[in-house]
Amino acid sequence: MDWGIRNRLSRILRPDDGRTVMLAADHGYFLGPTHRLEEPRGTLTPLLPFADALMVARGLVRNCVEPSAQVPLVLRVSGGASVVGADLANETVITAMDDAVRLNASAVALSVFIGSEYEHQTLANLGRLVDRGIDCGMPVLAVTAVGKELEKRDARYLALCCRIAAELGAHFVKTYFCDGFEEVVAGCPVPVVIAGGPKSGTERDALATAYKAMQQGAAGVDMGRNVWQSDHPVPMIRALRSIVHDGATDDEAFAIFTRLKQSGHLQPV
Ligand code: 5RP
Repeated sequence: MDWGIRNRLSRILRPDDGRTVMLAADHGYFLGPTHRLEEPRGTLTPLLPFADALMVARGLVRNCVEPSAQVPLVLRVSGGASVVGADLANETVITAMDDAVRLNASAVALSVFIGSEYEHQTLANLGRLVDRGIDCGMPVLAVTAVGKELEKRDARYLALCCRIAAELGAHFVKTYFCDGFEEVVAGCPVPVVIAGGPKSGTERDALATAYKAMQQGAAGVDMGRNVWQSDHPVPMIRALRSIVHDGATDDEAFAIFTRLKQSGHLQPV
């Protein structure tokens, strides 16, 4: 792997432990003004000091993130479909690699929709993006997206998706946690981070998912809604950090969350 790609990846996956807490806030590229991300600057600014990387699309970077922010960017570069359109899987690359370089991105992210009508198109997008990434020293994150078909998220399918993404050259992969997640990680030769998915349960549930994923070989989390849709987003991301970087259990992390929530979250953990 080229020095530039390794250098950029080391800004995202911490060199001391190879792990990362990414903050996903790219939802607007297909969902519009998602609940609690209607005003992204206000939501994201307090969270940035606790994120190892921020995953966003370029419009949000330029309008809602200070250029002086010290957070590495993972730039969402695929899109072209919306939640009210015909098919979420009908994506193409909508941001040039030159613009990712201009924004000083540390990686670019693209979704693949394996098993969908747009499988070939989105995998070809990935191949071309990896080629451009290699030209520019830019790592590529492949997201194994399922669109509205959340029931697809089982180990056999996700292992297939992650492996294909890695074989096509993705430098790291984002997928969902599932029963049998070890199988997904074992079959994937590059680091795997997990999405949080819709915020359906409690903070404790999301911390338990993160803990299980780390125990089963994840390189970290790339969570959005389970952080910024929480009533206590800063305690939540700090509790996630304790699991990913400090080896806390989910119970210990929940105790940290509770303590920070009660103390106004400014005390050290
Ligand atoms: C969409 C994405 C989102 O970034 C991803 O879903 C992570 O956010 P959340 O934790 O809210 O699911 O990649 O394709």
